[in-house]
Amino acid sequence: MVIEKPFFTVEQLQNRVRELADRISADYEGKNLLAVGILKGAFMFYSDIVRMINVPLSVDFIIASSYLKTSTTGEVKVYYDIREDIRDKDVLLIEDIIDSGITLNYIRERVLARGPRSLKICAFLDKKEKRVVEVPIDYVGFEIPNEYVVGYGLDYDNKFRNLPYISIFKKTK
Ligand code: IMP
Ligand code: MG
Repeated sequence: MVIEKPFFTVEQLQNRVRELADRISADYEGKNLLAVGILKGAFMFYSDIVRMINVPLSVDFIIASSYLKTSTTGEVKVYYDIREDIRDKDVLLIEDIIDSGITLNYIRERVLARGPRSLKICAFLDKKEKRVVEVPIDYVGFEIPNEYVVGYGLDYDNKFRNLPYISIFKKTK
């Protein structure tokens, strides 16, 4: 297994998170923002961005996964769901990366079925080339090529999530 040099450095990540947070703060002024982190992958991005958003917000999480090693299974399993009543909330889903779109599409429909006042999506990384299901993304950190990346919350086999930067991961035989 090889972890390559940073693809995005800590400084690049932080600058981009700041820009997204500023846009979100402007867009959600006076609203009833519920920031929902999709775990586990989004934990680091989530904790960074909520600290930089300067409008009042509530926090909640969804624990879901669709991934087995490095291939999408196409199935999404939810282990923990939003506990709040979301009918009067402006829900913002915060995700680490969108790849096929299967996970976010599933979660989006599940949340919409509960009738939030509004629903938007913020994904830090977007692997556009791999999209199978179209999902409307309102805030994107970076578009990236079709490479497997780890760090800043993203894992391979539940490892490397604690790297403070994002690197390309290569599996060696
Ligand atoms: P999707 O359902 O194919 O869009 O996959 C989204 C989920 O797969 C993300 O929430 C990640 O947890 C995981 N994932 C997709 N690409 C990567 C990657 O390059 N590194 C680590 N996890 C990934
Ligand atoms: Mg994820």
